[in-house]
Amino acid sequence: MEQRQINTVEETLPFGEKIIIESWNHRNIDIETYKSMHRGTLTPEFWEMVANELEWFKKWDKVLDDSNPPFYKWFVGGELNPSYLCLDRHVKSWRKNKVAIIWEAEPVDSNGVPVEVRKLTYYDIYKSVNRMAYALKRNFGIKRGDRVGIYMPMIPQLPITMLALARIGATFTVVFSGFSADALADRLNDAEAKLLITANGFYRRGNVINLKEIADEALEKSPTVKSVIVFRRIRDLNVRMIEGRDYWWGDIREGTPENAYIQPEPLPSEHPLYILYTSGTTGKPKGIVHDTGGYMTLLHATMKWVFDLKDDDVYWCTADIGWVTGHSYIVFGPLMEGATQIMYEGAPIYPNPDRWWAIAERYGVTILYTSPTGIRTLMKFGDQWVKRHDLSTLRLLHSVGEPINPEAWRWFFEVVGNSKCPVGSTWWMTETGGILISHTPGSYLVPLKPGTNGLPIFGIDADVFNENGQPAKPGEKGYLVIKNPWPGMPLTIYGDPQRLIDTYFKKFEGKFYAGDYAIKDSDGYIWVLGRADEVIKVAGHRLGTYEIESSLISHKAVAESAVIGVPDEVKGEVPVAFVVLKQGFDPSDELRQELHQWVRQTIGPIADPSKIFFVSALPKTRSGKIMRRLLRAVISGESLGDTTTLEDQASIDEVKIAYEKLKTEIGG
Ligand code: WT7
Repeated sequence: MEQRQINTVEETLPFGEKIIIESWNHRNIDIETYKSMHRGTLTPEFWEMVANELEWFKKWDKVLDDSNPPFYKWFVGGELNPSYLCLDRHVKSWRKNKVAIIWEAEPVDSNGVPVEVRKLTYYDIYKSVNRMAYALKRNFGIKRGDRVGIYMPMIPQLPITMLALARIGATFTVVFSGFSADALADRLNDAEAKLLITANGFYRRGNVINLKEIADEALEKSPTVKSVIVFRRIRDLNVRMIEGRDYWWGDIREGTPENAYIQPEPLPSEHPLYILYTSGTTGKPKGIVHDTGGYMTLLHATMKWVFDLKDDDVYWCTADIGWVTGHSYIVFGPLMEGATQIMYEGAPIYPNPDRWWAIAERYGVTILYTSPTGIRTLMKFGDQWVKRHDLSTLRLLHSVGEPINPEAWRWFFEVVGNSKCPVGSTWWMTETGGILISHTPGSYLVPLKPGTNGLPIFGIDADVFNENGQPAKPGEKGYLVIKNPWPGMPLTIYGDPQRLIDTYFKKFEGKFYAGDYAIKDSDGYIWVLGRADEVIKVAGHRLGTYEIESSLISHKAVAESAVIGVPDEVKGEVPVAFVVLKQGFDPSDELRQELHQWVRQTIGPIADPSKIFFVSALPKTRSGKIMRRLLRAVISGESLGDTTTLEDQASIDEVKIAYEKLKTEIGG
């Protein structure tokens, strides 16, 4: 087999290169000055100053209760409400009729002009949220502490639903609309949701997706859900409605007074605002629980420092609200700050690969927050798609979700941002609630470097540790840790607090272990390299390899399976599966297709392996642990390294043969 010379990621990073944006003149600052200011912010009192900028119904008695680590409580005794912060406050000000959301549906006419655009003001959203909150309370008896599931596409009714639930103090869990019925059912069951709010369908790449049908399948396995509210997104899409269980959103709204007003519940700072499930290293997704006061405080800080949001900005975060990025930086962050923002229903390349640029031009977007996969996807189609649009309004760009390779960074900086906008790569995760490591053009801007995450934001003490828990030397690869408690950190893992301790606070006693590899360069900039565990990032979406393995093993033909992530030019990483069949089943293309379909149905299309290899044994250690490292080495053409613990040499030879065979079959 051909031996390719693979450079490690680290060797290709431009650690030394520094770019200063002249137009940011008044905010530019040198690295040492930033670091010395930063040192003074690593106290709870600093975060207290930030929290004081929000409007609280009641001030806290204690800034940080650290009596039971790692279950920290922020702003104890304080009371607030996110729906009040995002709506009532603006409605009482000049922002009342300011446009909050410009929503563009996916379908376009024959000239490529969008056929449906809605502009909702803060007052419009305020009224809808109050009517929804009214119905949830009066018709469905939803009250503080109840859990409610949300399974909706990118339509304004999604943030409206989240804000209505926050208003009455119900804890919601949003399930990404690309997830399967099984994934939805698992989450509804774990959260013991009483109610599900969904839509009949939505548009994606020109197709109609029947969401209600998938929800119905999930509901057969979700006994705690007693009622379902369905928004009619697609007028002509008929779905089954079960009498006494399913209700049309429109009918419910009709039944509420137009001027309904529901007083926002004064929620304790440590009230669980939402649960968001995310993948880990076991088959069962973790329900990350976020608080209210700490979370809103972190979002307020980062909207200012990272996004530099001003009233005349047109802000656009291209994420889906089904992921944490959308929760924090479409719903709660921007709306709390009174932003005007774009919300787009569909795919970036529909009907053409310039849809995003057309939208940015149409509404004069100034701040764009997107993902490396999005950037790489559009970069592939060439500069001409960008150049046909006037993007001169853009002033600030950020990416999130996975490491951004220097090449994609450069394209984003030069072609999209015309070399005048700061480009950051904001590091954070579902667990952190908001951005923790990033350039902060809204406060002080240190020089940019293509591909770095930059320095920790004020108030965050981040570092890179080696295996022994000592700070790694500059340039040495280690593990990313957050050393201090921060507002927005998880309250717990729903139903399993011990898992919070075991997953994040054990490896480096008492410090938050993110599960990422990182390097700190000689300037102190952090470069997150990727996951250090069996979690992969596919197009920025987080998947546990174990989840995909569990899905495959649940198929009747599969005895064993191992899934690894392999580098992909566009998606960053993609899953590849090795499958051992049960006796009586033979490898065939039909079976392979069936397995692809199986994963799509049990988890969702994003989890579908890019390749499935049939083998008769998996490489294992003598104690029976699958050696995924060896599988990765075969696929990437790297040397196998130490194989002394391998039990059966033949298994790895077989993996090599299967790989070679598939390569010739499909031509590479
Ligand atoms: C994982 C968390 C937080 C919003 C979306 C992802 C990776 C995230 C970056 C970045 C390098 C990044 C990490 C992290 N990640 N942002 N800017 N540079 N890696 O949230 O799904 O919880 O995933 O995404 O590996 O651990 P998530």
